[in-house]
Amino acid sequence: MDAERRVALVTGASSGIGKSTAVKLAARGWQVIGVGRDPERSAAAEAEIAAAAPAGGFCMVRADFTLMAEVKRVADEVGGRTGYIDVLVNNAGGVRDRQYITAEGTEATFAANHLAPFLLTRELMPLLKASAASRPSGTTRVIAVSSTAHRMIDALDFDDLQSLGGFQPAFAYGRAKLANILFTRELARRAEPEGIVAQVMHPGLVASNFASHGDEGMRTYMASAAAVSPDEPAETLAWLATEPAGGHPGGRYFYQQAEETPSAAAQDDAAARRLWAESETLLAKLGF
Ligand SMILES: NC(=O)c1ccc[n+]([C@@H]2O[C@H](COP(=O)([O-])OP(=O)(O)OC[C@H]3O[C@@H](n4cnc5c(N)ncnc54)[C@H](OP(=O)(O)O)[C@@H]3O)[C@@H](O)[C@H]2O)c1
Repeated sequence: MDAERRVALVTGASSGIGKSTAVKLAARGWQVIGVGRDPERSAAAEAEIAAAAPAGGFCMVRADFTLMAEVKRVADEVGGRTGYIDVLVNNAGGVRDRQYITAEGTEATFAANHLAPFLLTRELMPLLKASAASRPSGTTRVIAVSSTAHRMIDALDFDDLQSLGGFQPAFAYGRAKLANILFTRELARRAEPEGIVAQVMHPGLVASNFASHGDEGMRTYMASAAAVSPDEPAETLAWLATEPAGGHPGGRYFYQQAEETPSAAAQDDAAARRLWAESETLLAKLGF
């Protein structure tokens, strides 16, 4: 890769917000690596994003992020393609129609929305540090895509972090999206001395493929609500990735290119520290 060129890794690039974000960064001349899951959506998105990119400016890696072995494989593969990452956009995720327990024994909503970006960020930390060592301060960034659904949750239940008992899809999703904000707060604190900035945003209600993975109630709700194009939150993500506004201080929550205040539960630093420790413990039990 050309060392002058900015490199971004965008997860969930096969559809919706992630695809549009990858197009926008590629069109700005960035080298973009996307992660997609579904073979057909990934192939179609790869063609679309590559058409917006300079020659060789985009490639897609495929993985199912409910499985931590797949997340680790992606991190290793990305490390084989680039020596640094300037911006990591942890966007992949969404709601499910019911509880799924993965082959690794985790709950799928929690695994894909929280555990996967947690592990991916940890595994890519050497590449993020390599960027921070040679770029202007505050331009190496990790950006999470959360949701207003985090407001449904008063506090994380550390006795059942994965929603293994009494599973309700929307609440499991809300907990995972609350975890995105808490993770970002703690990451921002830990990565600040390294010169790496972590921010989180919510995209609003977006007309993407999101609802198709949810239950009937979610599909009905999404169909009846006024939704924006994925291009709108993607513009905020590209802005957070490239503009000074997305720099220091980290740990901030954004919507439509402006800072907002998340729920009280999302500002609980003790919960953020505990979530970090519990996530490390869970990953260690899984062998990561
Ligand atoms: N749409 C909304 O109204 C809304 C609102 C708030 C927050 N969000 C958040 O915005 C983010 C992007 O969603 P979207 O609206 O763009 O929905 P989308 O069109 O369904 O795109 C989701 C992306 O994430 C990928 N993904 C989902 N689960 C995955 C898994 N287990 N492993 C690997 N990749 C996975 C999908 O891959 P495939 O398509 O290849 O399967 C797709 O690329 C999500 O984190 C979502 O929670 C969306």
